Amino acid sequence: MSLAGNLVGQEASGGEGADSHVVGRLVVVGIGLIGGSLALGLKAASGCREVIGVARRAQTCEQALALGVVDRAVTDIAEVLPELQAGDVIFVSVPTLTVEAVFAQLKDRLPAGVTVTDGASVKGSVVAAAENVWGVVPEFLVPGHPIAGSEQSGVTAARDDLYIAHRIILTPEESTGAEHVQRIQAMWQAVGAEVLSMPVSEHDEVLAATSHLPHVIAFGLVDTLAHDAENENIFRYAAGGFRDFTRIASSDPVMWRDIMLANRDAILKSIDLYTSNLASLRSAIASGDSEHLMGVFTRAKAARDHFTKMLAKKAYTETMEAKEVTFIAQPGGAVNGELRVPGDKSMSHRSIMLGSLAEGVTEVEGFLEGEDALATLQSFRDMGVVIEGPVNGRVTIHGVGMHGLQAPPGPLYVGNSGTSMRLLAGLLAGQKFDVTLTGDESLSKRPMNRVANPLREMGAEVETGEGGRPPLKIRGGKALKAIDYILPMASAQVKSCVLLAGLYADGETSTTEPAPTRDHTERMLAGFGYEVLRDGARASLAGGGKLSACQIDVPADISSATFFMVAASIAPGSDVLLQHVGINPTRDGAITILREMGADITLENRCEVGGEPVADIRVRYAPLKGINIPEDQVPLAIDEFPAIFVAAACAEGETVLTGAEELRVKESDRIQAMADGLKILGIDAEPTPDGIVVQGKGGSGDGAVFGGGEVDSLGDHRIAMSFAVAALRSGADIRIQHCANVATSFPNFAELATNAGMNLDVR
Ligand code: S3P
Repeated sequence: MSLAGNLVGQEASGGEGADSHVVGRLVVVGIGLIGGSLALGLKAASGCREVIGVARRAQTCEQALALGVVDRAVTDIAEVLPELQAGDVIFVSVPTLTVEAVFAQLKDRLPAGVTVTDGASVKGSVVAAAENVWGVVPEFLVPGHPIAGSEQSGVTAARDDLYIAHRIILTPEESTGAEHVQRIQAMWQAVGAEVLSMPVSEHDEVLAATSHLPHVIAFGLVDTLAHDAENENIFRYAAGGFRDFTRIASSDPVMWRDIMLANRDAILKSIDLYTSNLASLRSAIASGDSEHLMGVFTRAKAARDHFTKMLAKKAYTETMEAKEVTFIAQPGGAVNGELRVPGDKSMSHRSIMLGSLAEGVTEVEGFLEGEDALATLQSFRDMGVVIEGPVNGRVTIHGVGMHGLQAPPGPLYVGNSGTSMRLLAGLLAGQKFDVTLTGDESLSKRPMNRVANPLREMGAEVETGEGGRPPLKIRGGKALKAIDYILPMASAQVKSCVLLAGLYADGETSTTEPAPTRDHTERMLAGFGYEVLRDGARASLAGGGKLSACQIDVPADISSATFFMVAASIAPGSDVLLQHVGINPTRDGAITILREMGADITLENRCEVGGEPVADIRVRYAPLKGINIPEDQVPLAIDEFPAIFVAAACAEGETVLTGAEELRVKESDRIQAMADGLKILGIDAEPTPDGIVVQGKGGSGDGAVFGGGEVDSLGDHRIAMSFAVAALRSGADIRIQHCANVATSFPNFAELATNAGMNLDVR
């Protein structure tokens, strides 16, 4: 049996090299911060049998021994090579351009089954070094790069927790052996790191942009200032900005010189790109081009605020850590006082879309700073629109005109927002560039053929994912023709999508809806000076016009206000005034339905703001009774049913909803989700294909209607808030799972609810 076979066999049978440790011995060549921290981390995790340090200088060896970083130390690796066995790992952690010399020492002396890996910041040069030494990239070499550097260096800076929650990029070649990759992966995981894999060239380009370029700039800036005759003063008065920005200029010069030389081409590319951007900034400053400056600064701020996902070249929240939020709603209470709920979601989306395509600067007040509307905002930033804010609901949009959008750098990610995806699909069908629209898990299950089909009829090229679901791929540069579209379902999103595509179509596009749905698109287009003809169920517009910037005052969202309308109606002692709420007749179904159930709702201070009717809504507690909900009210209250079902449970008698099959394709299947939750809370609620039958338990005044229990909102914001409201009439705590998406439409719900008198804990 060959030596190799023997040793591998030993490992497989649990020999010395593969006892309970992740690796056998760890040999660290170059005992500095990176190698020393791996050694300490692995020792702390009992991940190896022994750590042997290799350093050129005897003093470093002594220091490493004294600090307990290594168990043994030698100045020449040749001394330890003969005793290595399969399962052992050599970690080469020397300046990039010295890696080849270390490889040369290993050549022909490495026992079989030993894995070699490294920590250099450039992988192309490591692969080239291996090819120079061995002729090929050997199967035992796993090039790697721990992204955990700091400006500190040397063994004294080594820490056992350096790699916890940091990323390690491995760049194995085709020739790299799978067992070696697994061993190195396990080693890094043992010290708490997250291990990723990517091709060498991609690694070097990404690092050139994200790490090497910033180092060039930091070294260069500090050197420039240090040469300045006034440098004493400059350093004396340098504030936090200088300190934060130039921290990395105190990194190890040798290491960084090597990186610059080793990753030359990718770094030059990054420097050239940056230099040309710097030149444009220079000329914007010279010529007083405030819009250019605002564009760069607002985009950069948004990107920096979400920088993890931007590194991954994804827009908006895609890589934001999934937050787990649970509501614990405690029983009892009443709601009182004057409240202003956040801005209308539908209008907020549309204000960004139309403002972006308008000529001139649009100012928006009352903008909903919830994740859905922010997803739309970020999409337009990704397409080159300069948007200031939002700051306290104020947004300034520097419109680019009907044909001024630019291709985004990657797919547009719109999170949970169906409105963003469906309305954007219409607008994007008329652009010259290709776009892909993606969304979160919930949105990725929702039907998109309802918009893809009419767009295709207009001549657009739209590809959906499996079963007509997201992602949506829209090919640009297609000439659109007008159509007369009869909507198969009452959907404002579909209507709006077709009308927005119609802006770019040749001829007059019309939509005819089976029942009135929210008409904010039609109203807002008119506000931007675009003529929309309306005749009963039909709305039409001629393509090829233009939008003129305007001022938009977004009223409070009636859908968010509904939670408090229901809360006040079911909790004795309640009296709330909901300020400045949009009461557009295509949205006021909840008021009609609740009043029919006996709710005490009055409208005060009615006025019209920017073409939309607005009022303060006063709601006082009143006993409710069950009703048959008129079907003509369904589209007018489509988002309010989860809350209305809670009201129904608190009413006397039966409430029956029919004609509401659309509820099954919202952020969740809202019929099923509510029926399931209500049953858990002790309510007889029977789902039907197009609605629900709820047996009310109210009537007795202030007794408990709901039992306590744990319900799942399925990540649907409106289900979560509805069950929180139910606790006003429950006998025990209601725990509501998966509530993070409340932030899509009502980010300050818990705060307002608590201020109004509800007992809600957010965990
Ligand atoms: C919306 C339309 C409705 C509604 C959604 C917002 C809009 O969807 O449920 O929350 O802003 O156009 P449908 O068009 O699917 O009914």
